[in-house]
Amino acid sequence: MLEIKNIYKSFGNLEVLKDISLSIGTKEIVAIVGPSGAGKTTLLQIASTLEKPDSGNILFNGTELIGMKDKKLSAFRNKNIGFVFQFHQLLPEFSAKENVALPAMIGGMSKKKAMDKASELLTRLGLSDRMDHKPSAMSGGERQRTAIARALINDPAIIFADEPTGSLDSVNREEIQNIFTELRDKFNQTIVMVTHDSTLAGIADRIIEMADGKVSLRPQAPVPPEGEEMESLAIVDPLDSGGDGSEYLIRDSIKEIRESVD
Ligand SMILES: Nc1ncnc2c1ncn2[C@@H]1O[C@H](COP(=O)(O)OP(=O)(O)O)[C@@H](O)[C@H]1O
Ligand SMILES: [Mg+2]
Repeated sequence: MLEIKNIYKSFGNLEVLKDISLSIGTKEIVAIVGPSGAGKTTLLQIASTLEKPDSGNILFNGTELIGMKDKKLSAFRNKNIGFVFQFHQLLPEFSAKENVALPAMIGGMSKKKAMDKASELLTRLGLSDRMDHKPSAMSGGERQRTAIARALINDPAIIFADEPTGSLDSVNREEIQNIFTELRDKFNQTIVMVTHDSTLAGIADRIIEMADGKVSLRPQAPVPPEGEEMESLAIVDPLDSGGDGSEYLIRDSIKEIRESVD
C-alpha cells in the first residue's frame, strides 16, 4: 500500500535519513524502534507526508506523493492518513467529541453526521461518558484514546503513531496496545508506529530497527498483498510540542477547523 523508496533527508549538515526504503502492507502493524536520534520521527513524518524528503519517493497504491501540490496533499492526508502523537494536542477549546469530529467536517461531512460518528467511535473506545468534556477535564489515557478516535474518524488507510504510549502509565499503555491490536484484528487497520515501549512493539507484525539514519538489515517477513482502495482520511493532530509534526497539522488546519465548527 505504501512504498517508501530511497529516502534521504538532512537538516543542515546533519544527514538524518540515509537511503531508507520500506514497504508497508495492509492490515499490518509495523513498529519502528531504535535509539533516540536515529531518525525515527523524521522517517514517520516523511512517510506520512508531513515533511518532505530531500530525495526519494513515496507511493501510495502506486500514486506518487512526492511533488504533489500542497493543497492536494492536504486533502490526501485528511482522507487517508491518521496521526497519533505522544501528546494528545487536542484543541483545548473543543470537547472530545468535537475534536474527533473535526477532521470529518474538514473532509466535507455534515456536522451532524460527523458528531454522530465521533460519538460512535468514542463509545467504542470506552469514552461514552467523557465525550462532552474538554481535554483539560480528561485523564492522559482518555485524551490519548480521544486522539485515536480522531485518527480513525475518516477511516484512514494508515495510522501513523509516534510514541503513542510515551506519556502514559502502564495501565493506559496496555489499553492502547489492546486498542491497536483490535484495530488490526477486527478492523483490518494498518498501523505504523515508532515506540520505545517494548510491550507495544511486541504486538507488531514486523519490527524495523533504525540506527544512525538507516534501517538495519534484519530479515523481514513478506509484505501482505495490497488491500482494497482506501477511501478515507483522518487528520489527527495529536499532540506534542516535541517536533512530532502536530504543529504542522495544527498550523495547516486550525483555520479550516474553526470555520467548519462555526
Ligand atoms: N527540524 C529539525 N531541524 C534540525 N534537526 C532536526 C530536526 N528534526 C530532527 N532533527 C535531528 O535529526 C536527528 C533525528 O531526529 P529524530 O528523527 O527526531 O530521531 P528519533 O525520533 O529517532 O529520536 C536528531 O539528531 C535531531 O536532532
Ligand atoms: Mg522521535
